[in-house]
Amino acid sequence: MSDSIILGIESSCDDTSAAIIKGNTILSNIAANQEIHKEYGGVVPELASRAHQQNIIPVVEKSILKANIQQNAISAIGFTRGPGLLGSLLVGTSFAKSLAMSLDVPLIEVNHLQAHILAHFIDDANPVPPKFPFLCLTVSGGHTMIVLVKDYFDMEIIGKTIDDAAGEAFDKIGKIFDLDYPAGPIIDRLAKEGNPDAFKFNKPKLENYDYSFSGIKTSVLYFIQKEVKKNPDFIKENMNDLCASVQKCIIEILMNKLEKAAKDLDIKEVAIAGGVSANSALRQIMQDNHEKLGWNIYIPKFEYTTDNAAMIAMVAQLKFERGEFTDLRTTATSKYDL
Ligand code: KG4
Ligand code: ZN
Repeated sequence: MSDSIILGIESSCDDTSAAIIKGNTILSNIAANQEIHKEYGGVVPELASRAHQQNIIPVVEKSILKANIQQNAISAIGFTRGPGLLGSLLVGTSFAKSLAMSLDVPLIEVNHLQAHILAHFIDDANPVPPKFPFLCLTVSGGHTMIVLVKDYFDMEIIGKTIDDAAGEAFDKIGKIFDLDYPAGPIIDRLAKEGNPDAFKFNKPKLENYDYSFSGIKTSVLYFIQKEVKKNPDFIKENMNDLCASVQKCIIEILMNKLEKAAKDLDIKEVAIAGGVSANSALRQIMQDNHEKLGWNIYIPKFEYTTDNAAMIAMVAQLKFERGEFTDLRTTATSKYDL
C-alpha cells in the first residue's frame, strides 16, 4: 500500500467526522456527536444538517492538527457520497469538493456501507485482516445485511432486512422502555445485570438470509402495554431482564442467518461491521463461534464500528491507489447500492 496521506470526511447521519490516514495507518480520527437529537428520541434531519455545518470546519482542523501534518501533505480528499440523509451528506460533499479544489488534489467518493466493511483493513482494526472471500454482517441504525465480500470492491448482498434495521429495533424498543436515544448501548449495559431468558418474544420466519425486526418491536409493545395495565411499574421493576431478553432475541435473529449463510457457502472467514457490532452479546457469540464452529472472526476496534471518518479515509486510500477519482461536479445521493 502507498504511503499517501488522505483526509476522509463523514457526514451521512448525525456524526461529523474527519480522519487522516497514511497508508492504512490512522493518524487521527475526530468526531463531533450531535447531542441535540437526544431530546427528540431520534435523528431530526434538519437539525443534523445544521449541526454538520457548525461542526465540519473545527472537526477537519482538529484532524489535521492531531495528525501533526501540514495541509499541503494531503494527497486527496475522500468523502461519504451516500447512502444517508441527503441534507447531512450535502454538507460533507460540498465541503470536500471545495477543499479538493482549493488544495488542488483529487476528490474521491466513498460508499458509506462499503466503508463500514473495509474498515477491517485499517492496520489496527484487527490483529490480521480478513481473507477474501469473507462474510460480513453489517448492522447499524440504518442497515442490516449479510454481505459476501469477494474482493475490496466486489461485494454481494446475500440477505438484508425487509423492514427495520437491527439498530433501529434496539432504539425503538428502548423508546418503549423510556430509554434515551440511541438506546442500543444502554440496552447492552442494562442487559449485563439481567436474565436473557426471562421473557420470550416472537421471531420472524423468513426464507433465505433476509431479516425482519418490525415484528419483535410490535411483540414487545403489546406485551408491555398488557403488563403495564396490571402493574404501572412493570418496566422499571423488570428493566434489566427486559433488556437482556430483547438483546438475546435480536442477536439470535442476526446470528441464525449468519450461521446458515456461513454453512451453506462453506465460509469460515466471518466479520461484523456497523454500530451494532459494538454490542457485547454479539461479540461474545462471535467469539463462541470461533471456538465452536472454527470461524476466523473479525471484530473491528470499537472506534471503527460506529460512524467514523477513518473508514472513509481507508476506502479513499484504496481508490487512490487504483486512480479512481471523482469529478468535482458530483452530487450527494441518499440511496447508494453496494
Ligand atoms: O453505524 P452507526 O453508528 O450509524 C448508522 O449508520 O446507523 O450505528 C448506530 C446504531 C444505533 O442504532 C445504536 O443504537 C446501535 O448502532 N448501537 C448498539 C450498540 N452501540 C451502538 N446497539 C446495540 N448494542 C450496542 N452496544
Ligand atoms: Zn453507519
